Amino acid sequence: MGSALTLAVAGMLAAGPSLAAEAPAPSSVQYDHGSVAQSLTGTPGNVESGYKIMSTNSLGNCVACHEIPSMPEVDFQGNIGPSLGGAAERYDEAHLRGIVMDAKQTFPDSMMPSFYKTEGYVRPGAAYTGKAPEGPLPPILDAQQIEDVVAYLMTLK
Ligand code: HEC
Repeated sequence: MGSALTLAVAGMLAAGPSLAAEAPAPSSVQYDHGSVAQSLTGTPGNVESGYKIMSTNSLGNCVACHEIPSMPEVDFQGNIGPSLGGAAERYDEAHLRGIVMDAKQTFPDSMMPSFYKTEGYVRPGAAYTGKAPEGPLPPILDAQQIEDVVAYLMTLK
């Protein structure tokens, strides 16, 4: 982890427990070779919620691009990305967190969406309609949803 984030987190801890529970803003997260060691929330991820996020179109929709052999009941699994079977054998928790948050930190040209990122996008709509949304876009998944997905991925051994 970068020292800037370490200092920021230490500062938050010093300021009191209510601030310490706040997740880092997507733009303030430091990646270490694609990995993010520190939990975004300090609350362990929920595996069942991770399952739901990964298999639901309007949330993570990971199955649209990935085959997930541990979810045989989910129809129409994609093959744009590699199968996620055994993902926790290929990556440790910090790296899985980093890949879900911003896959481009690991795979620079990836078409995988960055799920915890709010800056650096070409605004949808700007080129076509001139009606791009203003202000920072919310991340696709919030901090606890990221932790839930990471918890599910960690079961893929
Ligand atoms: C639009 C397609 C797409 C979606 C949606 C998507 N991914 Fe990916 N993902 C990819 C591609 C493509 C790769 C391969 C890396 C690359 O781009 O070279 C990848 C790589 C990965 C890897 C590394 C796999 C390995 O074995 O190397 C993990 C883990 C992963 N994705 C998890 C997820 C999770 C979890 C979600 C949902 C929250 C998700 N992906 C959603 C396209 C996608």
